[in-house]
Amino acid sequence: MTKAAQHVWWQHGIIYQVYPRSFQDSNGDGVGDIKGIIQRLDYLQWLGITAVWVSPVYPSPMADFGYDISDYTNIHPLFGSIADFDELLKEVHQRGMKLILDLVPNHTSDEHPWFLESRSSRTNPKRNWYIWEDGKNGGPPNNWLSVFGGPAWEWDEQTGQYYYHAFLKKQPDLNWRNPEVQKAMFDVMRFWLEKGVDGFRVDVMWHMIKDEQLRDNPPNPSYQEYMAEYEKLLPIFSTDQPEVHSIVHQMRALTDAYDERVIIGEIYLPIEKLIIYYGIDNKGAHLPFNFQLITLPWHAQQIAAAINAYEGALPENGWPNWVLGNHDQPRIASRIGLYQARVAAMLLLTLRGTPTLYYGDEIGMRDVSIPLNEVQDPQGLNMPGKHLSRDPERTPMQWDSSQHAGFTTGKPWLRLSRDYPHRNVQKQIKQEDSMLNFYHRLIHFRQQEPALMIGTYQPVYSDHKLIAYLRQYEDQRFLIVLNLSHGVCYFEPEQIAVNGRIEISTHYDLEGTLVNGTISLEGDEGILVRLNNE
Ligand code: NOJ
Repeated sequence: MTKAAQHVWWQHGIIYQVYPRSFQDSNGDGVGDIKGIIQRLDYLQWLGITAVWVSPVYPSPMADFGYDISDYTNIHPLFGSIADFDELLKEVHQRGMKLILDLVPNHTSDEHPWFLESRSSRTNPKRNWYIWEDGKNGGPPNNWLSVFGGPAWEWDEQTGQYYYHAFLKKQPDLNWRNPEVQKAMFDVMRFWLEKGVDGFRVDVMWHMIKDEQLRDNPPNPSYQEYMAEYEKLLPIFSTDQPEVHSIVHQMRALTDAYDERVIIGEIYLPIEKLIIYYGIDNKGAHLPFNFQLITLPWHAQQIAAAINAYEGALPENGWPNWVLGNHDQPRIASRIGLYQARVAAMLLLTLRGTPTLYYGDEIGMRDVSIPLNEVQDPQGLNMPGKHLSRDPERTPMQWDSSQHAGFTTGKPWLRLSRDYPHRNVQKQIKQEDSMLNFYHRLIHFRQQEPALMIGTYQPVYSDHKLIAYLRQYEDQRFLIVLNLSHGVCYFEPEQIAVNGRIEISTHYDLEGTLVNGTISLEGDEGILVRLNNE
């Protein structure tokens, strides 16, 4: 068996995140839906995507746009029906792709029947399914803060206790120390796995278990006024508790009973803590999301150091992964600019490990400024002046130049970018040097070259402008040189003889050119060189 054949789809594939509200509306209500996603599967297949991750589509009061679930084994009518979902799964599989669902096990909606029961009385059998506590000194049980601002404890008048919510008060946290909760959520997982879904992206995995004694979080010495209120404390007792790993292990064991399914963990932690989520003998999450390309400043030396530190820290056989954007973070083209966004695409798609793409980044969509009276996202709403809303990165996909960009025939739930008449899929498909065709080339090239898909990674050089590395599989070698600055620079490697052909370049006209010796790069330029064998 070749080495390539020993790898599974979630290792050599490419994941694409669909934010269903904003991808494609099929019924004119202004909100994207499952039938809409089905209409666009041919596009994703053309792009070369292996797996589609769909953010929550379950019944929900939509306080946090689906991350507040009131029924884990059904579909919200806004998005369609279970029959539509089954159709989506079938259509995805027919195209040789995989479907990944969002699993939100840390909290439910306060309208979920479990919580309604739990809050009904102190003696209800489901009381202990959530985290209920008496107050202390006339206030909440401890000083924990909600990620969205304000205290994380909500007083319940009827039963005279507080419940804990890491996010909105409409999102009470489940008590994962309770075996009944574990069983209920594992049943949810089995429900979808039996249907044939190919895995889960597990929401806030590192939040799932909290300190048993509910100790106060210490103050954050690096807190600054401009930061979100949540940052005032270091969440060392409310997140990332050692016991979480046994839960992750159980989720993994459950999934392993099915063929080639994947567990991806949403985890915002430093590398040394992140890698623990691979589990002992890699029996934890298959892919603990690695968000360094999102959280680090876009600076060549820092990024290069992070790549190398991550590569070095990975457990043996732990598979790497990289992410450029998601529905919670400013878009890459807004963070670093459109020119650098091409360099970032090249980095994402030439590093070792599974890449995850956020919808719209492939056409260079940018954050859209949403007037205050149109803000939808609850994050930061009670923190005036901090502007923490995630609406800007969640605007409707720009398909074509027609009204509302082909996203809907109705009124879009969130305004579209003004640039959609010239920045859209239909236009960019026809334009050879567009961002979309650049992504398309990179994706298809990666998928046909084992060196990029599964080959080794070797750092070559980095300085304040440049990152250079090698990818190799058997005798195929590629050199990637990326200029993360706007200034020109030279790459004069001592370790390797640069002799080869530019296969892909951020500057389309250079593709096919031969290089020999010193490489000079323009600002914002990146190249992928197939090295000749000496
Ligand atoms: C992480 C999700 O990505 C985010 O959108 C959500 O608000 C929180 N988890 C709470 O579920």
